[in-house]
Amino acid sequence: MTDKQETQVYIENIGSHAGTTVTVKGWLYHKRSSGKVRFLLVRDGTGIIQCVASLADVGERMFQLIDEMNQESSLIVTGSVREDKRAPGGYEMTLSLVQLLSNAIDYPISPKDHGTAFLMDNRHLWIRSKRQHAILRIRHTIIKAIRDFFDERGFTLFDPPIFTPAACEGTSTLFETDYFGEKAYLTQSGQLYGEAGAMAFGKIYTFGPTFRAEKSKTRRHLTEFWMIEPEVAYLDLDGDMELAEEFIESVVERVLESRVEELKVIERDTSVLEKVKRPFPRISYTDAIEVLRKNGHETNWGDDIGGDEETTISNQYDRPVMVHHFPSAIKAFYMKHDPEHDELALGFDMLAPEGRGEIIGGGQREDNYDTLVRRIQHERLPMEAFDWYLDLRKYGSVPHAGFGLGLERTVGWICGLSHVRETIPFPRMISRLKP
Ligand code: 4AD
Ligand code: MG
Repeated sequence: MTDKQETQVYIENIGSHAGTTVTVKGWLYHKRSSGKVRFLLVRDGTGIIQCVASLADVGERMFQLIDEMNQESSLIVTGSVREDKRAPGGYEMTLSLVQLLSNAIDYPISPKDHGTAFLMDNRHLWIRSKRQHAILRIRHTIIKAIRDFFDERGFTLFDPPIFTPAACEGTSTLFETDYFGEKAYLTQSGQLYGEAGAMAFGKIYTFGPTFRAEKSKTRRHLTEFWMIEPEVAYLDLDGDMELAEEFIESVVERVLESRVEELKVIERDTSVLEKVKRPFPRISYTDAIEVLRKNGHETNWGDDIGGDEETTISNQYDRPVMVHHFPSAIKAFYMKHDPEHDELALGFDMLAPEGRGEIIGGGQREDNYDTLVRRIQHERLPMEAFDWYLDLRKYGSVPHAGFGLGLERTVGWICGLSHVRETIPFPRMISRLKP
């Protein structure tokens, strides 16, 4: 019966093999019996196909083998492909051969409802389920869209280091490590290195993991997350916001085009994503405070905008909104101040719709040597750790700007998830280091 001629195919391409006999290598997703017929849902990582095995076609021995197989057993099936509009995916296989590689005994995740803590403990297995699989495939497409966006516009990918001697985004969330007797910190952002890259290449983007010892448990914070940080020489705040909106529009468009099936699996309302078209609304921090106060928040000018406030602001619009000109006192040392209003920083945050919060933070950088030295002193940061960064202002300083996009928050927003923990294969949070 074994025919070495059978073509091995991936389920996502099975449609082009209708009418022929093929082999699929995968795992048993689900099984159901009806008299002398067994229905197997087989998954191979690219899709799920319904396979029909009848006693008459496969014989006693194989039929019994099927009855012994459990959910998530690894198996190889051979059969003929048939178009069937009712089948999930539109095709079905009529099996002639089933080979069991490894039977899975007591797979812990069953179709019944499990609590999130249990699923998170079994994250290494949970990623096999339909919904998690769809989210991670969308993540993959978002990453590809991000890289294509910058690559097509002449940006050079510039990888910053992960061990760093100093803080970029404040000293309260640093992960400290022992670096041969010296202190090193896991990077919070690749930006400062990205600035060096921009002076060398004109426009660059970094794409890497970043780390923050976030002590609060929230739905938006991971301790390890991926950031994409473009940095461009001779760019100002306005140009930076234009780049950010073009970027987000293009990423959302790509997901809508190429992940139709996955968006259906996760039941995403795509009509809200269809609206993500330029220009995005822009509002100054000062006006945003007015909006907050009108909506019952007791936020005062000068206060940082927290999660609830972000939601109120973003709820005013049907697309992402950019809040700009924050008080410089609440922004990082490297942000350029507004030359006409020293109390304001030339920075912006982009808030995602549907209450998903800040997905981008960025702005124009301080390019004056003396001002930057004063800021580093004012923040009591170790000057010797920044000597190389100050060199960028000594040797051919130019106006420049950039931003950082949090990948997981972006995946969470595009997928319509209320928590970032499902947006990355293995999330790291204050109370989770395993698996
Ligand atoms: O606003 P942040 O702190 O900005 C920077 O790090 C700048 N150096 C970026 C730049 O201008 N090159 O972080 C940028 C983005 C946030 O908007 C958010 O999306 C994400 O990174 N982010 C987090 N995502 C998940 N978990 C956390 N703990 C995050 N902290 C920031
Ligand atoms: Mg920020």
